[in-house]
Amino acid sequence: MIKFKTHLKSLVPYPPGKTVDELKRELGIKGKIYKFNSNENPLGPPDSVKKLIKDLAESVHLYPEASYIELKKKIAELWNVSPEQVVLGNGSDEVLEFVFKALINPGDEIIVSQPSFLMYEKFGEIYGATIKKIPLNEKLVHDFNEILNNITSNTKAIFIDHPHNPTGQVLSRKEWEAFLNAVPEGVLVVIDEAYGDFIEGQDVPLGIEFLKKGYAVLIVRTLSKSYGLAGLRIGYGITHLEVAKILDSVRQPFNLNLIAYKAGITALEDRDYLKKSQKLVFEGRKYLSSELEKMGFKVLPSQANFIMVNFGDKAKLIYEELLKRGILVRPLGAYGFNSYLRISIGLPEENVYLINNIDEILQRGEK
Ligand SMILES: Cc1ncc(COP(=O)(O)O)c(C=O)c1O
Repeated sequence: MIKFKTHLKSLVPYPPGKTVDELKRELGIKGKIYKFNSNENPLGPPDSVKKLIKDLAESVHLYPEASYIELKKKIAELWNVSPEQVVLGNGSDEVLEFVFKALINPGDEIIVSQPSFLMYEKFGEIYGATIKKIPLNEKLVHDFNEILNNITSNTKAIFIDHPHNPTGQVLSRKEWEAFLNAVPEGVLVVIDEAYGDFIEGQDVPLGIEFLKKGYAVLIVRTLSKSYGLAGLRIGYGITHLEVAKILDSVRQPFNLNLIAYKAGITALEDRDYLKKSQKLVFEGRKYLSSELEKMGFKVLPSQANFIMVNFGDKAKLIYEELLKRGILVRPLGAYGFNSYLRISIGLPEENVYLINNIDEILQRGEK
C-alpha cells in the first residue's frame, strides 16, 4: 500500500465558484447566467490584452523568459520598489503558497481570521501547519487584539486579507500601526490586497506604506480582479529583498506562462481599464448598498468589489429564487453566516436587474 502523508487524509479541497458552463449544465438554463458569485470583473478582459493574446498565438511554442524581468520592472515601477523585491505567482494563490513552501515546517503555527480567504487554511493543511483561527470581532472585522494574544514562539506567519473576504471590511491606519508594532520579530505578516484597488479613502492604508517603514510584511496582489484577468492567473508579492529572494527560490522556473507574463505587462500599462474597473465598483457598490438598505437589509461597509448583506430569514428564499432565474450570488452558510449573502458588483444594468429581481421575490413572498 502506498503511504501518503497522514495529515492529508482529512484534507477537503478548496470549493471554487462554479463556471457559467457548469451552471448551465447543472441548472438546465439556456439563457444568460448572471454571475454575482466569484468577484470577477464584469467588464471582461482589457481590449489591450485581448489583442496581445491573438498576437502571441504564434509564439507559444517558446518558453517564457524565466527571470520575468520586464513584468517585475513594471510592478517595481508602479510601487517604487526594486524589481528584486517582486515575486511573481501563477495567481496570487501561488504567491501565498510560496510562504508555506519557504517558511512552514510541519507543526509551525499560522494565524488566520475565521472566516477569511480559504486558501490560507488549505495551504496550512497541505503543509502540516497548526492553524489558529481567530473569529472576527463583533463588528465582523479582523480582531487584531485576539490575533496578537494568540501569537506564540511557534508562530511563523499571520494572514490578513485587506479588504477582507467575505465582508469587504477594512481597518484604519491607526489600527494597523498598533497591530504591526506589537507583532514580534520573526513573524511575517501577509497583507493580502487582492481587492486593494477598490479601497476608497485616505484613512485606509495600503501595505506598501508599512513595507517602506520596515515592518516584516509581504504584500500580495492579483491581476484577477481590478485588471480582469482571473483566467490568466497572474499574481505578485512585494516584500523585503531577503524575503523575496527566498520566496522566489521556491518557484518553478516557468511558473507564469508566456501569455500571462506578457499580458501582465500590457494590463498594468492599461491605466484606463483600471480606472474604469474602479469607477464601476465604486458606483456599483454604492447603488447596490443603498437599494438593499432601502429594502431594510443591513449591508456591511465594503471596500471590495462585493458586498456582504444580511437578509435575515429571507436569505435562503432569495438565494434559491435568484438561482432559478440564472442569477448567482454566494451563500455564506459554510462560513457560519446563514443569514448573509455575498454579492459581487456587476455592470450597472446587471445590478439593476438583480435589485429588480430581489424586489420581485420579496413582493411575491409577501402575497
Ligand atoms: C482575499 C483573496 N486573496 C487571494 C485570492 C486569489 O486570487 P488569484 O489566485 O486569482 O490571484 C482571492 C480570490 O478570490 C481572494 O479573495
